[in-house]
Amino acid sequence: MTKRTLAFASGSLHKWKEMQMLLSPYGYEVVLPKDLGITFSPEETEKTFTGNSFIKSKELYRLTGFPAFADDSGISVPALGGEPGVYSARYGGPGLTDKERAEFLLQKLGESVNREAYYSCVVSYVDADNAVSFEGRVDGVICKDYDVESKYGFGYDPIFYFPPFGKRFSQVPESEKNTVSHRKKAMELFLDWLSNLK
Ligand code: IMP
Repeated sequence: MTKRTLAFASGSLHKWKEMQMLLSPYGYEVVLPKDLGITFSPEETEKTFTGNSFIKSKELYRLTGFPAFADDSGISVPALGGEPGVYSARYGGPGLTDKERAEFLLQKLGESVNREAYYSCVVSYVDADNAVSFEGRVDGVICKDYDVESKYGFGYDPIFYFPPFGKRFSQVPESEKNTVSHRKKAMELFLDWLSNLK
């Protein structure tokens, strides 16, 4: 069977592997902008995950002509008015490490009683006939301190406690986190939709 090509708006080899693994059984080959010789870094100027996800998928479709998809994700804390949200990767200013960003969030939240938080991921897909998006979310609680051991995970995982596991995301292997994650949920909805595409 000839594989159909899907362009993925990302520079991450790690994410590419994950996406290729998920999409291969459906007959798709996933390619990155750099595989197509394209320099790709559109500015993410929207205020929603959906908006920023579409900036990337639409631009990649325009540049390559291949059906294109993108993901955009982050963490939102209602007690901080939804911060950091779409600014998750840039929270606290440029030049901070992941750890410093997480500590900045802890400092902003202080002793707040309401410590709920959720990760969101929006996967968007664009081709000649379609522009669709799918959202996944996982709910948890912001801890009072940073997990200095942090065996697993990245970003805000060392301060994100997930009640059904009774652990932080930094304390569970990637394979376990991937069974419940925001990205997994968004991808499931996308794959379900894609499998019905003629
Ligand atoms: P992006 O969707 O790869 O641009 O992710 C945006 C930012 O959200 C990342 O830099 C992280 O700070 C945060 N983030 C998204 N997903 C996760 C996750 O699963 N764990 C920890 N941090 C995440």
